[in-house]
Amino acid sequence: MLQSLVPGKLWLAPLAGFTDRAFRILCKENGADVLVSEMVSADGLIRDGGKTLMLMEFGDYERPFAIQLFGSDPLVMAKAAECALNYKPDLIDINMGCPVKKVVKRGAGSALMKTPEIAARIVEEVKRAIAGSIPLSVKFRSGWDQSSINYLDFGLKMQESGADLLCLHPRTTSQMFSGISNWEHIARLKEALDIPLIGNGDISTPEKAAQIYEQTKCDAIMIGRGALGQPWLFNNIKSYLSAATYQPRTLDMLKNTMLRHLELALRYKPEAVIIKEMRSQLCHYLKGYVGAAQIRARINRAGSILEYHAIISKL
Ligand SMILES: Cc1cc2nc3c(=O)[nH]c(=O)nc-3n(C[C@H](O)[C@H](O)[C@H](O)COP(=O)(O)O)c2cc1C
Repeated sequence: MLQSLVPGKLWLAPLAGFTDRAFRILCKENGADVLVSEMVSADGLIRDGGKTLMLMEFGDYERPFAIQLFGSDPLVMAKAAECALNYKPDLIDINMGCPVKKVVKRGAGSALMKTPEIAARIVEEVKRAIAGSIPLSVKFRSGWDQSSINYLDFGLKMQESGADLLCLHPRTTSQMFSGISNWEHIARLKEALDIPLIGNGDISTPEKAAQIYEQTKCDAIMIGRGALGQPWLFNNIKSYLSAATYQPRTLDMLKNTMLRHLELALRYKPEAVIIKEMRSQLCHYLKGYVGAAQIRARINRAGSILEYHAIISKL
């Protein structure tokens, strides 16, 4: 079962607020191999469902597909995993890397790196709940802060507790998303583990993808922010790894991808929601575009999909 998840696979990282069905499908069309849901609150699932349940919806085209859960109570996480199984994902991933205050103050996300015993119990209970039907992965960071780097012991503990696959984003919680990912941590963990490891952090070009494989020997890579505004990065990475070349961005590529993104977005959410949510997505496409500041301002003022179309067609 792990064969479709590693080796050499390109994962789209979970990015809450960005990697909804539309963006995931767009990335799949552009070469992503494995997709992950936005993070799903285990407490939210048990308490109210509704919006939380919607985060777990996906289609067969999105396979192999992982549902990512976050929470801090092993038994609630196990219940949430049982609920997630109804959606028939190919993998359950546990978020132990989220640094956001709202999450860590409840002992979830990367706060679990400070309580490895609870983290281990979560893995054991979730593993029991899914009863080996699909693999289980854990995504985590290097540690809480510079004085408590514990990714190595933590990763080995997760392996021992039953994780089938790990993903390391080598920054500390206190770094949030600043500074540079320390890929050396990925290399060290890879060497110590028996289970596969996915490398993540700052892979924004095909050259960096080649470099992280070379430097860390990780089994697969996961790309987050690098895919925003350039979902074709996945195909470019594949092309670069196999033939040392790739297609630079063209204006046609940019416009067609933006239009396709809008089209997919409208398929899954109402126009009023799309107009708001697509603002930041569309602005990402303008990275490196001459005159981007004025176009971004127009995007931020636009009040309809037609206006978005007009802006894109004039690029
Ligand atoms: C806006 C945003 C939302 C994120 N949401 C999640 C999430 O829901 N679950 C998770 O495990 N990581 C989340 N992350 C972290 C990413 O998955 C990834 O680990 C991190 O951005 C580093 O990879 P990158 O440099 O390729 O972006 C988020 C990051 C950003 C910037």
